[in-house]
Amino acid sequence: MISQNEFRQHFPHTEKRVYFNHAAVSPLSNPVLEGISKYLSWRNTADPMMWTNTVEILENLRANYAKLVGSSSKRIALAGNTATGINYLASGLDWKPGDRVLLNDLEFPANVVPYMELKKKGVHIDWVKSVDGQVRISDINASLTTKTRVVAISSVQYSTGFLADLEEIVTIAHANRSLVVVDAIQSIGVIPIDVEKLGVDFLAAGGHKWQMSPLGTGFFYLTEALQNRLNPDFLNYLGKEVPSDYANYTQKFSDDARKFEIGVFNGIGLVGAKVATDLLIEAGVENIYKHVLRLQKYLLDGLPDLPFHAVHQFEDANKSGIFMFSHDDTSRNESIQAKLNDDGFIMSYRGGALRFAPHYYNSIEEVDRLIGALRQY
Ligand SMILES: Cc1ncc(COP(=O)(O)O)c(C=O)c1O
Repeated sequence: MISQNEFRQHFPHTEKRVYFNHAAVSPLSNPVLEGISKYLSWRNTADPMMWTNTVEILENLRANYAKLVGSSSKRIALAGNTATGINYLASGLDWKPGDRVLLNDLEFPANVVPYMELKKKGVHIDWVKSVDGQVRISDINASLTTKTRVVAISSVQYSTGFLADLEEIVTIAHANRSLVVVDAIQSIGVIPIDVEKLGVDFLAAGGHKWQMSPLGTGFFYLTEALQNRLNPDFLNYLGKEVPSDYANYTQKFSDDARKFEIGVFNGIGLVGAKVATDLLIEAGVENIYKHVLRLQKYLLDGLPDLPFHAVHQFEDANKSGIFMFSHDDTSRNESIQAKLNDDGFIMSYRGGALRFAPHYYNSIEEVDRLIGALRQY
């Protein structure tokens, strides 16, 4: 167990700037840098153990991802980003002309483009219209058809912060014999999830945001039943039962999700991801979620004294690590965000508003300083 204060000590940038932009790209901690540097020195000195050590680290990383989603390592495939996972799913299902995918108008393109490409197989997309930044269960329910094979949704919407009610979505989708596929990059590492308990069929998440990992890292989860149905075009030797049995071209593929890992990995990134996810697990994702909600509430409570307001009003159950706020004159948001960045308060401008996305190491005192900085507008 690591306290919030100990966690903060790992992030030297906190002495220079206030970083609230973890929904974009997170900073890397000192332990991550040290882990990567150790790995590079094995390679640099041709350490005889460098390959064995790396394989062991990747095994441990799979176990970490499994912990973060509530599953076992067998159900986790390492992947370089969210999009790779979504592509495996979208390209690997046995689509029939007339099949349908249910999306919504808030999704990030990584969770849309692969389904649009299915048009050539005769697959049609239905779009749920969001209301006030939310994708409502009643609208999902009303949009399901007998041909809906997949309900694809982000656990957290990147431009509004809306946290989906996956339990409800799985219940109605499964009752309709539709799969539930989740783009979880905006929640893994900051919001707890238990995919097995929920019954989610597939989930993909890149590592460079809330997981505080290097770019080009991440994973996907899928159920064993779905793995048996998927038939993607991309498979290769590393996914075979015994990858080191090189001459045995005809051997079976692994029964584990490892089947979808096609060739050697971005070692630098994944070694960093292992250390980064160790830290998150030590801190406890429950604690991280509570902490960011506390920071969010502190900012929200400070807004009435300022010419700023919350963009959306979500129920507690739909609050995530992302909080969107706006100047009362919305046309000023973009320039305010640029000026705040210049002044050392780093946030993104998304959907016409300011995106506040703190992590576990951020403090109330930093939010206070942001509130102080907002007074000048
Ligand atoms: C909801 C969502 N999905 C996916 C991505 C990125 O996808 P990938 O990891 O494939 O680059 C982002 C942000 O960049 C995002 O906000």
